[in-house]
Amino acid sequence: MVSSQWRWSPTTLLFLSLSLLTIPTLTTALDFVPNAYSYCIKYYGSVSASISLGEGWLGKNYNNTITCPTSWDFPTLKGATLTLCPPESNPGGKGPFYAPDARGLAIDAKLEFRHVAGILEKPIDHLALTDFLITNGSVKVPDGKPAVLAPHDWSRSYIGPQWSINGTEESIVSEPKRSGGGVSLYLDCANLSNKQRGSDYCGTGEDEDVGGCWRSQTFVFNMQDRMNFSIGFHNFEAEATVFAGQDWVYRNGTNMGTSEVVLTFAGRRELPSVVDYDFWINSEMNYESEKEDLNDQFRLEEDATGMPLFLNATQSGEWFDTANGTFSVLSGANRGGVAGKGVVVMWASMVVFVGWYLV
Ligand SMILES: *[C@@H]1O[C@H](CO)[C@@H](O)[C@H](O)[C@H]1NC(C)=O
Ligand SMILES: *[C@@H]1O[C@H](CO)[C@@H](O)[C@H](O)[C@H]1NC(C)=O
Ligand SMILES: *[C@@H]1O[C@H](CO)[C@@H](O)[C@H](O)[C@H]1NC(C)=O
Ligand SMILES: *[C@@H]1O[C@H](CO)[C@@H](O)[C@H](O)[C@H]1NC(C)=O
Ligand SMILES: *[C@@H]1O[C@H](CO)[C@@H](O)[C@H](O)[C@H]1NC(C)=O
Ligand SMILES: *[C@@H]1O[C@H](CO)[C@@H](O)[C@H](O)[C@H]1NC(C)=O
Ligand SMILES: *[C@@H]1O[C@H](CO)[C@@H](O)[C@H](O)[C@H]1NC(C)=O
Ligand SMILES: *[C@@H]1O[C@H](CO)[C@@H](O)[C@H](O)[C@H]1NC(C)=O
Repeated sequence: MVSSQWRWSPTTLLFLSLSLLTIPTLTTALDFVPNAYSYCIKYYGSVSASISLGEGWLGKNYNNTITCPTSWDFPTLKGATLTLCPPESNPGGKGPFYAPDARGLAIDAKLEFRHVAGILEKPIDHLALTDFLITNGSVKVPDGKPAVLAPHDWSRSYIGPQWSINGTEESIVSEPKRSGGGVSLYLDCANLSNKQRGSDYCGTGEDEDVGGCWRSQTFVFNMQDRMNFSIGFHNFEAEATVFAGQDWVYRNGTNMGTSEVVLTFAGRRELPSVVDYDFWINSEMNYESEKEDLNDQFRLEEDATGMPLFLNATQSGEWFDTANGTFSVLSGANRGGVAGKGVVVMWASMVVFVGWYLV
């Protein structure tokens, strides 16, 4: 019988299983792209902001009866998130630096509040500090200057290791005028409650038409306009402060001077309770899916150089090291439970290849 020739002998089976243990492991070592998105660590929290207005706004309102405020404080609004991921996992990322062969980035950070919503209805709205480069400080890029991820002195803290990401407008790579643009912040005093506004006069449509007092402003974070930010984080909590300055210019070219904004964020990894109405009403996520996706397996730990390591704190122990952009992944054999424990294959492919624009 011809078919019997093709029956798999024990030798063939052994050979096949050996190939499965060795060849595919090596191949995938080069081709395997870890599901880096599932390493992401998210902090849930709130934002607040204050703005001090340019000298052009020191006058009166449109009918010359009311003195304009020179600064505004915006209340703390829940519903914001900060997400930290291995750099390759930026699914919405645009631009050459997020191409699959872009190496040398340490981490990806996104600070967002009502980022996707088209409707602007909160005093602080449409916040997106995303699409900026972060390295360990020793990687050169042709244009700009990436933000730097570094250990923060934590010797007197009981919380454990802490880190900071400090950057400026020079770290931003998204196109400044991208439609529906990602990187921005909107502030509007008309959306403050009467109580929050107090007796301060917030500009009206007339003020915008004929000139008068400030009402609202969009800050587009780009490589041209001055800004800087600092994100501090540890395994449980994160905070961020963003300073940005941008001119307010009427269509006819009259420049009212530079509005300076300070925005702060504070958040924790704990998922806000389902009855934390203040959080979920402003959030673009929903409780059920966040709960399902909650990454409670990963922890941020210090690596040998003090840099943050995303560690799967369960027995499988996968990690991503921000210091050199390396993933560890258990070998296929070990994952199947066939070979001995603790066999770890280093996925050096992340660092072997330094993209031509990152040299
Ligand atoms: C001037 O504008 C303020 C604010 O809109 C309004 O309350 C007031 O009635 C106006 N006064 C005059 C004289 O038009
Ligand atoms: C926010 O302000 C805009 C106009 O500035 C207004 O159309 C909208 O109704 C306001 N929303 C709330 C919730 O106050
Ligand atoms: C980053 O900025 C924060 C706040 O300004 C500062 O405390 C920290 O030392 C800075 N980190 C580095 C590495 O410069
Ligand atoms: C430009 O427009 C604003 C608002 O309408 C007005 O206050 C200002 O005087 C105008 N400037 C010039 C030069 O026309
Ligand atoms: C960030 O910007 C603010 C406001 O312009 C400035 O006071 C501060 O010194 C800047 N910080 C850094 C680290 O450049
Ligand atoms: C983390 O470990 C758990 C349990 O070992 C595993 O199910 C999960 O897939 C791991 N996560 C990642 C992203 O590797
Ligand atoms: C900085 O990061 C690059 C790219 O991941 C890596 O090659 C280099 O060794 C790192 N430098 C230090 C001092 O950790
Ligand atoms: C990256 O750092 C880890 C330690 O965190 C080390 O085990 C690994 O060998 C390093 N990889 C490269 C390519 O330098």
